[in-house]
Amino acid sequence: MSFRKDFMWGGAAASYQIEGAAYEDGKGPSVWDMFVKQEGKVINGSDGEAACDHYHLYQKDVDIMKEIGYRAYRFSISWPRIIPEGAGRVNEKGLDFYDRLLDSIIGAGIVPYATLFHWDYPYELFRRGGWLNSDSPKWYADYAALVAGRFGDRLKNFITFNEPQCFIGISYDRTDHAPGIHFPVWDTLLMVHRVLLGHGLGVQAIRAAVPGAQVGYAPTGSAHYPVSESGENREAARRAYFDVSADNPLWSVSLWSDPVFLGKYPDEALQRLGDNMPKIGADDMKIISQPLDFLGQNIYNGAPVKSDGKGGYEFVPRKAGYDITAAKWPVEPKALYWGPAFLWERYRKPIYITENGLSCADWVSLDGKVHDPGRIDFLHRYLKCLRKAAEDGVDIRGYFHWCVTDNFEWAKGYTDRFGMVYCDFETQERILKDSAYWYAEVIKSNGDNL
Ligand code: GCO
Repeated sequence: MSFRKDFMWGGAAASYQIEGAAYEDGKGPSVWDMFVKQEGKVINGSDGEAACDHYHLYQKDVDIMKEIGYRAYRFSISWPRIIPEGAGRVNEKGLDFYDRLLDSIIGAGIVPYATLFHWDYPYELFRRGGWLNSDSPKWYADYAALVAGRFGDRLKNFITFNEPQCFIGISYDRTDHAPGIHFPVWDTLLMVHRVLLGHGLGVQAIRAAVPGAQVGYAPTGSAHYPVSESGENREAARRAYFDVSADNPLWSVSLWSDPVFLGKYPDEALQRLGDNMPKIGADDMKIISQPLDFLGQNIYNGAPVKSDGKGGYEFVPRKAGYDITAAKWPVEPKALYWGPAFLWERYRKPIYITENGLSCADWVSLDGKVHDPGRIDFLHRYLKCLRKAAEDGVDIRGYFHWCVTDNFEWAKGYTDRFGMVYCDFETQERILKDSAYWYAEVIKSNGDNL
């Protein structure tokens, strides 16, 4: 037994990381357009003003996806490209771009999955208080309604948010991501609640405009796993995976997904964050927990966990010199078994792995090719674990490799290459890496060759 026959094999990308054309055809500024202008925020002072120039080269990129054999492509829509101030005035040229992109994706026989928000928040809305403004959920819902209304004749798969753990946690608690301003925990938890309200109102808007739409959500988290299969270690890993730590609540899996899929905040949050939790309106949790069709999850790694012998858990230190990627992230294939397994057990929702991949020190070899054996081995190990989860009964619907082409890796600029397709950011030449040809065979065999 392998993956389901209609398993969606594909790749993912995000508007600010690939499109470029940061000020073209009426696009409004995002918080990232303003963040990159500030000294010292991005390695080498890089920015996404050109990126992979996907805005102009999208057909070339879709042709490459077709060559690899993608069944699906997960891209994100730039909110300020289509509503320059984030609310109100619409930019027809911005909408026209996504019309062209959608027609190109569908013309290639690839199924489009659109993430409505992947961090490029409209700067004008930030100036109006952003997620602290009580109107912010409606701003997002109105944007979602515009997208669904305009593209819903061709676009049927919607992802409301990408990694809220990051666009709140790394942006408003830590300050490494745009807009990079620290707020106290009672404000960031208020932002959490307003993002979740925006999610719920957005789902309602999408369903009103696109009957039959498949709607999901793509948070992330560290997929902790049991150091051995013993019952107490499994329970310990489950507890670790869904815990809400008092000193870093925003990275939590359950804080962001229990309200959406279970209609309530996790008890650990209410117990540990108590007075800092926002006031919850009478209808809030009902709005937030609109029924969804799938749970997306970005899973890169997790940590080994064992029971502490007292009903709790402790992290098991990795061995000296444990395997790491070029971004120094741990290589932890078991995360792609236990993450889906634990998520399926808790939420009973079909799962898409909406991101998985790694940064490698890729360059063009003397033979003109880009050899990335590390990426092939990494993906081979992770996908074998994902297939085992599917064989053990987890309803896994698809896998989006992060990412299609090398691109702007946020504060790391262009120093991390996650793509299966090498991008020369000066010439905009694309070169399929060895992993792209390997992945093409995996897709052809529907994962049976792993
Ligand atoms: C994320 C984002 C992507 C990143 C990728 C590598 O998961 O952080 O969704 O935009 O580029 O994960 O960090």
